Amino acid sequence: MSELYRVAVIGTGLPWKTDGATGFGMSRAHAPGYAKSGKCEIVALADIAEANMAAFNTDLCDGKARQYTDYKEMLTTEKPDVVSIATWPHLHAEMVIAAAESGVKAIHCEKPMAGTFGEARKMAEICAMHGVQLTFNHQRRHLPTFQTAKKLIESGAIGELTRLEGSCLNMLDWGTHWLNMFQMLNGESAPVWVMGQVDVRKPHQVYGVKHDTDGMCLVGYENGVHGLLCTGETAEKAVGCSIKAFGTEGYLEIHNTAPHLRIRGKGDSALRELTGSETEGGLHGSFANHDNVVDLVNALTAGRKPLCDVSNALVTTEIIYACYESARRRGRIDLPLTIDDHPLAALVESGAFPAAL
Ligand SMILES: NC(=O)c1ccc[n+]([C@@H]2O[C@H](COP(=O)([O-])OP(=O)(O)OC[C@H]3O[C@@H](n4cnc5c(N)ncnc54)[C@H](O)[C@@H]3O)[C@@H](O)[C@H]2O)c1
Repeated sequence: MSELYRVAVIGTGLPWKTDGATGFGMSRAHAPGYAKSGKCEIVALADIAEANMAAFNTDLCDGKARQYTDYKEMLTTEKPDVVSIATWPHLHAEMVIAAAESGVKAIHCEKPMAGTFGEARKMAEICAMHGVQLTFNHQRRHLPTFQTAKKLIESGAIGELTRLEGSCLNMLDWGTHWLNMFQMLNGESAPVWVMGQVDVRKPHQVYGVKHDTDGMCLVGYENGVHGLLCTGETAEKAVGCSIKAFGTEGYLEIHNTAPHLRIRGKGDSALRELTGSETEGGLHGSFANHDNVVDLVNALTAGRKPLCDVSNALVTTEIIYACYESARRRGRIDLPLTIDDHPLAALVESGAFPAAL
């Protein structure tokens, strides 16, 4: 390919825990992926915080990118081929839709998809309508730890997969990663129903969106596998690790601390630890963000589906909002989910969790 894709970044952030940082500055983890692809050049940046944009430009673009404080003006003026969006979730829908309508070829957006299910569905619909490749940064799909676990399950190392369990801090911000991993480990079998319960013990927002402080989300998948995600500060006690996969002939554990992958499967008399290249980067290796961008660029060139395509992100998002909806309706939710709002936010606002007001 002779011509490079012209990339624009919306939401530049500052490096985590540096002066003035409001988060992780995730677009800084996208940028090396565009460089690594060898097919892209970052030509423009958009951010309401000029200092963030200037620092990004100096650190990652040799100061050559044009800077805009209005992302819509940037889209109209620059007409980029690819847009990376790393703002907070309540802005994802309007930015993805504006980018799709401006004629871009691909959009890479940070997780979670959006602050309501209606917004998430609309982003997917509008991108499909305009033929725009849309990806979300569920970058752990690229990490060796999860890829190795997937291969072990597929090879029958724990017999036939029956159950998945996971633990993390909350359903939407963190749960989006673990539920997305459930899907990958379960061969992308479609979820059929969701039943959940949540509690909010104090006002709890993550990146501006209301979250549970504790929760449980049980998912029934088409292939008969069940998934259970427990959330909250002590949720790991319920599962004993980050993700556990049970099969008819053993089990496999994914841990936050090394050794990250442990298995007691067919032929194992004790728990066996997997290390080295099979678990490189553990559960958080930043290189997965780069590999995710390389994959979406290669997918765009090849006309194939990227690993973190919107199709699997939307399934994850549907499960999360179905769990919140299950708490609102006090019952099992059969999919597809037809609501548009954020049920947990509605529950909090209705006074269902007095301590959260
Ligand atoms: N994939 C992961 O593992 C991972 C990790 C952390 C955060 N995230 C996600 O990344 C997203 C961004 O988080 P972050 O930590 O990078 O945030 P951040 O606060 O570090 O950066 C956000 C940037 O967006 C800018 N911004 C705000 N409003 C804007 C507007 N209207 N137009 C243009 N720019 C605007 C801010 O000024 C800031 O520079 C969130 O959705 C978060 O959940 C993902």
